[in-house]
Amino acid sequence: MSDGRAGLLRDLVLRLLDRADEHDVVPVVQAGSPVLRAVADPYDGWLHDDELARLLDVMRATMHAAPGVGLAGPQVGLPVAIAVLADPGSPDPEVAVVRERPVLPPRTLVNPHYVPLDETRVGFYEGCLSVVGYQAVVARPRRIRLTGQDETGRALDEEVVGWPARIVQHETDHLRGTLYLDRAELRSLSATDATGARWGTPPRPTEAARLLGFPLAGLDVEA
Ligand code: NI
Repeated sequence: MSDGRAGLLRDLVLRLLDRADEHDVVPVVQAGSPVLRAVADPYDGWLHDDELARLLDVMRATMHAAPGVGLAGPQVGLPVAIAVLADPGSPDPEVAVVRERPVLPPRTLVNPHYVPLDETRVGFYEGCLSVVGYQAVVARPRRIRLTGQDETGRALDEEVVGWPARIVQHETDHLRGTLYLDRAELRSLSATDATGARWGTPPRPTEAARLLGFPLAGLDVEA
């Protein structure tokens, strides 16, 4: 990356940090903003360590305040390939197993990339902090290989399965300018309030697929 580009992005970061409120929270950019459709620049160390640490604090605080389980740079207006993830998992241990949704400890992805490891896809409801008020079913690969770096620059190369794989894909997609709606069964699109009321918590996509008329991929297990 050119020094000019790196300097411009660093200025963007510093201006964002100045705008954080007393809880370190910044506004989440909503769909329709071009930054959500841009391919993010790779991050290659052009922030000072303390600046990166503060940026990650702000991204995590913003994610938790929403609340959400992942947040990507473009969602705070930064076209930079950094994302934060953290999921408390399903509160119901049985559901956690069936949905493959264990606790995902806080982690940071830098310049992430994924490829599916097999053909199995799982359809389930997904939402996005940049598309407030809606959910839709997205069929995604169940097992992926994740590569990239963490916030210290350490190389990542690991297999991710189940719900954490869904989160990794969703956030990595953000860094390519892709929203979950681009991959969703649009006939499943539901107001978030209505999703729980109609299809339960967690929502059961099987019945929704039948009544709304959309295909449902993969392991469609009832919780
Ligand atoms: Ni999102």
